[in-house]
Amino acid sequence: MALPRFLTQLLIFFTCLLIEFVLGQENFIVGGQNAVEGEAPYQVSLQTLAGSHLCGGAIISERWILTAGHCVKGYPASRLQVATGTNRYAEPGAIYHPESIYLHCNYDTPKYHNDIGLLQLNQSIVFDARTQAVELPTSPFPQGSSELLFTGWGSQSAAGTLPSQLQKVQQQHLTSTACRSLLTDYEDLELGPCHICAYRQANIGACHGDSGGPLVHEGTLVGILNFFVPCAKGVPDIFMNIMYYRDWMRQTMSGNGKCGHVDQQIING
Ligand SMILES: *[C@@H]1O[C@H](CO)[C@@H](O)[C@H](O)[C@H]1NC(C)=O
Repeated sequence: MALPRFLTQLLIFFTCLLIEFVLGQENFIVGGQNAVEGEAPYQVSLQTLAGSHLCGGAIISERWILTAGHCVKGYPASRLQVATGTNRYAEPGAIYHPESIYLHCNYDTPKYHNDIGLLQLNQSIVFDARTQAVELPTSPFPQGSSELLFTGWGSQSAAGTLPSQLQKVQQQHLTSTACRSLLTDYEDLELGPCHICAYRQANIGACHGDSGGPLVHEGTLVGILNFFVPCAKGVPDIFMNIMYYRDWMRQTMSGNGKCGHVDQQIING
């Protein structure tokens, strides 16, 4: 005997709810997989001197690490260390120390803009199979459909613990129009050309500890994680657009930066 139509629909609805509930409980970082050793050799863990993971970041040359501004704001260079060459942040291939930190002078102005910082190390990184600089972009990647690789040690749920193994998620680039339509609840977030929006689906995305981490398109760094809604709630993750900051990076790295240089001191405000 066939069920009445409304009963069938009710059944389907509750089945979907149940599946969503079960998946929501089981997914990691959120919804990531273990990265393969050497898959993201540019990935670093920005840490306290005690080895607590704070943020992600990317090796962009022998002496320079790129991360999010909010990851370094308030820290004197002497309180941070950079773990490289590993998929397990607690078992670094090597530890390096920043001698200077450069924060963008318009950091967080307007809100969520210019959230970018550079760390200059006091010693050159020794490159090997698990430790490499990432390519920087020379032209924009194809907009709207590109597959983007995001990696991080961020927590596996909003209240969860950090995974010991580096996690990866494949995200897709969203145009700013598509992105805005998924961000209507976040009116204080003004997207601009300095942002890149990436998304897969609900239950897959960035979480606490992923900030500053690298978003890569075909081996080229295109973004650094700026903003996410904790965690993987069906809202896109927002990254700083590396193409947009190339000049700032070039100037800062050549010693001609116009922004203040944060050396061994706590930045207030
Ligand atoms: C770099 O800084 C760390 C921490 O301050 C220090 O222990 C180390 O000797 C320094 N290395 C070089 C090459 O100056």
